[in-house]
Amino acid sequence: MAPAVLKTVADVKDWTAGLRREGHRLALVPTMGFLHEGHLSLIREGRRRADVVAVSIFVNPTQFGPREDLSRYPRDYEGDVAKCISAGAQVIFAPAGPEVMYPQGYQTYVEVTDVSQGLCGARRPGHFRGVATVVTKLLTLFRPEVALFGEKDYQQLQVIRALNQDLHLGADIVGMPTVREPDGLAMSSRNAYLSPEERQRALALSRGLKAAQALLREGTRESEPLVAAVRRELEAAGLREDYVELVDAERLTPLASVAPGQPARLLVAAFSGTTRLIDNMQLGGEENAGRV
Ligand code: PAJ
Repeated sequence: MAPAVLKTVADVKDWTAGLRREGHRLALVPTMGFLHEGHLSLIREGRRRADVVAVSIFVNPTQFGPREDLSRYPRDYEGDVAKCISAGAQVIFAPAGPEVMYPQGYQTYVEVTDVSQGLCGARRPGHFRGVATVVTKLLTLFRPEVALFGEKDYQQLQVIRALNQDLHLGADIVGMPTVREPDGLAMSSRNAYLSPEERQRALALSRGLKAAQALLREGTRESEPLVAAVRRELEAAGLREDYVELVDAERLTPLASVAPGQPARLLVAAFSGTTRLIDNMQLGGEENAGRV
């Protein structure tokens, strides 16, 4: 069945009104397109939690910095539509251009203060303001019962949980595990930028996290050696580190060690060539969750 394709805000309002009249339960999966198995896992889980799944495909300009990759962000609209259908989405929201979401005179932005601050927020000024703004707009437009996001973008997930709670948006925010290539590389639309050699070197991120996880299992709880285990892999592969940090899994504040029963998260960002890659995993709390 061909899915409905919505192009404008008015289309979304009409379509969601019909959906509500018929009493459906809606899951929303926001994306920037160039879909891979990570995105599709969100759509499939959406189908398990709701009877209708909508996917938005919008390369959101407000979350890109002036020197970032907005104009060359990979796109494959036809391929994306086919993948959405095969994963079970019934509706696609694909604004024709940025002016659909940000018309002339647009001036309203959403800022999530605390969890946006460190990590990627510190290195990409304005990034989470753009993410929070577009996700708030999508959640208020669609009013989904469920919205699904990947743990691959862990800080983003925490930003979205905060705005959903603080603005009383009422969606059930579901975080899904990172889908990886068989060799451990976290799937990402940006992996398309990597040359074969850069892709090989990019394995250092997941390898480093795995090494830290192994250390924790052997009883090392202090941040320093866990972080050093990731750094060693980055250095061995010749990757430039952006950050490696151990933080509280909810508040994202720095931790000196992993305390028993307290969920912690180890996050890494590094450049392979000119491509910035991120990855993370859970340490502590449920020791097995997020194992890579
Ligand atoms: P995008 O990078 O296209 O990702 C869309 C969703 O897919 C996000 O929730 C992201 O965390 C999830 N995802 C990406 N790679 C994944 C993987 N390997 N495994 C599991 N989930 C994965 O993230 C964005 O777009 C944007 O910032 C957006 C939230 C759409 C706002 O513009």
